[in-house]
Amino acid sequence: MKEIIGVLGAGTMGAGIAQVAAQSGHEVILVDLNATQLEKAKSNLDKALTKLVEKGKIDATEKEAIEGKIRYASEISEFSFCNLIIEAIVEDLGVKHKVFASLEEIVSEDCILASNTSSLSIASIGSVLKNANRVIGIHFFNPAPLMPLVEIIPAVQTSEETLSKAVDLIKSWKKTVVVCKDTPGFIVNRVARPFYGEALRIYEEGIADFATIDWAMTHFGGFKMGPFTLMDYIGNDVNYAVTESVFQAFYYDPRFKPSFTQKRHREAGYFGRKTGRGYYNYAEGTTLPLPTENEELGKQIFNRILVMLINEAFDAVFMQVASREDVDLAMTKGVNYPKGLLAWADEIGLKNVLAQLQALFDEYGEDRYRPNPLLKRMVG
Ligand code: NAI
Repeated sequence: MKEIIGVLGAGTMGAGIAQVAAQSGHEVILVDLNATQLEKAKSNLDKALTKLVEKGKIDATEKEAIEGKIRYASEISEFSFCNLIIEAIVEDLGVKHKVFASLEEIVSEDCILASNTSSLSIASIGSVLKNANRVIGIHFFNPAPLMPLVEIIPAVQTSEETLSKAVDLIKSWKKTVVVCKDTPGFIVNRVARPFYGEALRIYEEGIADFATIDWAMTHFGGFKMGPFTLMDYIGNDVNYAVTESVFQAFYYDPRFKPSFTQKRHREAGYFGRKTGRGYYNYAEGTTLPLPTENEELGKQIFNRILVMLINEAFDAVFMQVASREDVDLAMTKGVNYPKGLLAWADEIGLKNVLAQLQALFDEYGEDRYRPNPLLKRMVG
């Protein structure tokens, strides 16, 4: 029997999640307070499915069937028959608390209540529930229909049954599932921090400009986008907020310290592509700056950012956030890294990674560069 899926919030994520569930054959109820958002979700779905028809991935009858599976509504009372509800509304704990408490009043005893939050604790979201063993994190990546990864996060209250049902269901949506601990940033938003943070630090030290750092990461690392281009895509408002929240949530561990450069860009309204200006100027008639293609400098930049990423991946395994395999899967399937970081570490040699981190630590004397104990143990 196909489950009935409720999705709360028809914004970027909710609309995408509703599409994924409908494409997997479920009846979906998509609820948003804002009627315009519902209209937008409907017309975006039509566009997305039309593209799939044009590409020959589905036919017109299938398109119609998928569209027919989603019901759009403005009241959560419509969720009463759902087996799973995925919440994808504003990232505000107070609002989520209110919403989860109201949802529990409406749904059946065994309905799973999930949040797509990127940065809030699942334990806290679940704390308002009478039956908190039904709470879980189900974290999709943007755009949800295209990105294969889903992080599933059991909270301390989550039952084994809720976890296994959620894992089976999301796997049946042809997603790559990784299970991770309810810790700040889960896997991807934690392990990826140095991609931005170390790039900003290198810029702030005057080692290279944005274009050169971007070039180093795409040219030597094979990343699809360099850090500054990517931050301009994500939005400096959004990326800065995630960095700050991870930093605070880790009790101000210097490894996650936000950067003044990014803060100033955000304060200036230089959010990136969406405002026409970020680290780069996207106004019509302007050309993007060219990198200094100095091989030695480029390799030095790439290696420094890569070993910092690897150190963070080791920390996620060391602190039991997720398995080694899942940490590598998360970075390749959630944010398109060219290789898993732990596999990459093996390839370039653990001794080499440790030596580079140790050299940074010795030079700067900052905790930010401390090599992870698991890496140290493995080198012996
Ligand atoms: P969004 O701003 O695009 O959409 C949020 C939607 O929720 C809006 O349509 C708004 O009208 C609706 N809404 C707000 N309060 C509501 C309420 N009380 N009841 C019903 N609808 C309500 O936000 P986005 O980007 O889709 O994010 C949603 C959640 O997903 C957040 O928790 C965010 O952290 C998380 N997330 C976002 C990702 C992204 O790349 N945008 C990636 C992964 C997770």
